[in-house]
Amino acid sequence: MCGIIGYTGSEDVKAVLLDALELLEYRGYDSAGVAVRDSGTGEQRVFKCAGRVSDLRMLCAAEKFASGCGIGHTRWATHGGVSDRNAHPHQVGRVTLVHNGIIENYKELIADYDLQEELQSETDTEVVAALLNRFYEGEPHEAIKKTVAKLRGTFALVVMFADQGDVVYSTRNVSPIVATLCDEGAMLASDLTALCRFTNRYFVVPEYHILELHADHIALCDLDGKMVEPEYLTVDWELNSAGKNGYPFYMEKEIMEQPDAIERTIEGRIRSGLPDFSADGVPDALFTDCERICIIACGTAMHAGLVAQALVKSILHMHIEVEMASEFMYSDPVIDEKTLVIAVSQSGETIDTLEAVKYARRRGAKCLSIINVRGSSIARESDYVLYTNAGPEIAVASTKAYTTQLAVFYLIVARMAYSRGVFSAEETQSFIRELQRTPDVMKKILAKRRDIHVVAKRVLGAKDLFMIGRGLDYSILLEGSLKLKEVSYIHSEAYASGELKHGPIALITQDTPVVASVTQEKLMSKELSNIKEVRSRGADVVVFIKESIAQRLEGEYEVVKLPNMQDEFMVMPASVALQLLAYYVSADKGFDVDKPRNLAKVVTVE
Ligand code: G6P
Repeated sequence: MCGIIGYTGSEDVKAVLLDALELLEYRGYDSAGVAVRDSGTGEQRVFKCAGRVSDLRMLCAAEKFASGCGIGHTRWATHGGVSDRNAHPHQVGRVTLVHNGIIENYKELIADYDLQEELQSETDTEVVAALLNRFYEGEPHEAIKKTVAKLRGTFALVVMFADQGDVVYSTRNVSPIVATLCDEGAMLASDLTALCRFTNRYFVVPEYHILELHADHIALCDLDGKMVEPEYLTVDWELNSAGKNGYPFYMEKEIMEQPDAIERTIEGRIRSGLPDFSADGVPDALFTDCERICIIACGTAMHAGLVAQALVKSILHMHIEVEMASEFMYSDPVIDEKTLVIAVSQSGETIDTLEAVKYARRRGAKCLSIINVRGSSIARESDYVLYTNAGPEIAVASTKAYTTQLAVFYLIVARMAYSRGVFSAEETQSFIRELQRTPDVMKKILAKRRDIHVVAKRVLGAKDLFMIGRGLDYSILLEGSLKLKEVSYIHSEAYASGELKHGPIALITQDTPVVASVTQEKLMSKELSNIKEVRSRGADVVVFIKESIAQRLEGEYEVVKLPNMQDEFMVMPASVALQLLAYYVSADKGFDVDKPRNLAKVVTVE
């Protein structure tokens, strides 16, 4: 994880670095640091601390650097705890360096090169700084080449050498780095977010190459010194300048944005009432030529995949698997040229998903990605991309990215059913009409958010909580439960209701609230029996239920009515209700809702 930035140019370097780090903070926010070189004096200084970029800003508030170059880092700790000392940049001898990734053989390197004496932190990164310094004899390229040859693991390294003027050097393996040259100078970063303020042109630094940033030019070469022309790309990604728009937290703002986000996702992909991906360049052959589907994703994106799995099974009757990207490559997956791989990722940078896509394509599979961030690594590695158009998602807990991923899956399932002859044109149009109702239905549940706030107060004091449901309800609850635990720190488990009696019911007491979701009419009777079972063991039960069937429970349980949609689409209002539940619990507990402890928005370590 971690966000990195490097800059050399005419602007106030400290301001450029700090502003960029703020934008990269969602990649990690437990410590932050910058190293700045003043071109006038040649003086190079490091400022770093445990805490947020705002703490770092205060730490170097009084410092003035007219111009020059600098590097910066926002950290999500892997090796070594959260402390000032472990924060980046690390400085050893003439080398100052920041790093994103993990160096797996750092212990061997310490032993092999006898580096222990030179180290002050517990990080793998400082070992790289020490090794680079050991190899450095005034020739940056030679030293970088020798160093990367010794490293095992993933790395994006950004380096300043004390005697090389205002030049920033970089190299990488797996962990991303994008770079650009613009009017204000040359810069590089972990992702585009940090560059968009200056330009919409950028290039991806190829693996095992060396990049040099100079104020007025960029030099890129391979490890043998052969010059390479950067391949510039253009992005039309806009940063959300509106900030929180009056909401106390981005999470609430992003929950409220969902009707518009869904609209943006589906509009332009419906023609004559049928789903249409021609503007995305996705051919029907992708859907008709495959025999099986494999969805690869992590976290919330994987939960969107689970909903898609249920739809594919019931509508297309096709073989489909949902794989956690982190397990995928190590499980001997059955992937071949007849497999359609669908990778799902908000950021497009999750390292496990990225590596899984590369692996699947090596095995001959075609890969279609569902991505939010344009031009991201997974988008670039895929055969086809469907962007979700959710707009920037800043809160760590994913909300609008999830429901827009679902919207794309509805479109895919409908197009597949139509192109494979499972749905007639009329059936497809009717399915799409229901999808088009989603924004209005979401507005209804958002209008009732005060009711959910009241319910949230019932679970505020819980240490443990269960969420139960069947079929699609179970899929939604997996996401609802993840949402609750990540922002409220309540231990929450989603369970398929029928499985509860095979163990977990032993944990149900009057101190264990249960949230049930009942949106699938055909499963309702069985679900109601399961709710009774937990109620008779003392649990305080809150039921999220489809409005048309709610009278079966009213008066007996605390009920939140969800506006009616066809059963397959009830995940949309139910997801919004569960997001609001998690949000209110966290906000009422006084937590930093947007930046939950230990988490990061983008996970770029395996
Ligand atoms: C992190 C985020 C989650 C996200 C997951 C996958 O854990 O905190 O919100 O669901 O990564 O991220 P991706 O960007 O691939 O969707």
